[in-house]
Amino acid sequence: MIIGVGIDVAEIDRFEAALERTPELAHRLFIEDELILPSGERRGIASLAARFAAKEALAKALGAPSGLRWTDAEVYVEDSGQPRLRVQGTVEARAAELGVRSWHVSLSHDAGVASAVVIAEG
Ligand SMILES: CC(C)(COP(=O)(O)OP(=O)(O)OC[C@H]1O[C@@H](n2cnc3c(N)ncnc32)[C@H](O)[C@@H]1OP(=O)(O)O)[C@@H](O)C(=O)NCCC(=O)NCCS
Repeated sequence: MIIGVGIDVAEIDRFEAALERTPELAHRLFIEDELILPSGERRGIASLAARFAAKEALAKALGAPSGLRWTDAEVYVEDSGQPRLRVQGTVEARAAELGVRSWHVSLSHDAGVASAVVIAEG
């Protein structure tokens, strides 16, 4: 059963400017594995903006309650390249209240915009 759905878009240049303006923002929004690729390179800004959109979309799927920590949701990538969501702490607690047992996420970035859709399933 679908419990919630969320969508978000982020303008990539504006997101990059926000990260440059506020150096601590990256670590408030993302865990290390989201920021750094397995190769050791930094993740590209469009992919990072899509991950930000995924966290906003996830919050909407949960009714956007206050008190969710950005780093309690992680976008990780399967060997096939498919993105997945993993949650803990504040996000896991809210999801449990609503009966969410699994997550679906899809990311896209093109034409200066990054976007994400999240479905919470019970
Ligand atoms: C509510 C919130 C998601 C709105 O996002 P935003 O980027 O400011 O605005 P957007 O333009 O993307 O979305 C606006 C839409 O969000 C929807 N929205 C507002 N409150 C909502 C809620 N409680 N639940 C779900 N959707 C909501 C509305 O439909 C709104 O459109 P409308 O005003 O035309 O009806 C945002 O303010 C927020 O609380 N973000 C969550 C931050 C967070 O918890 N981060 C940690 C996640 S791990």
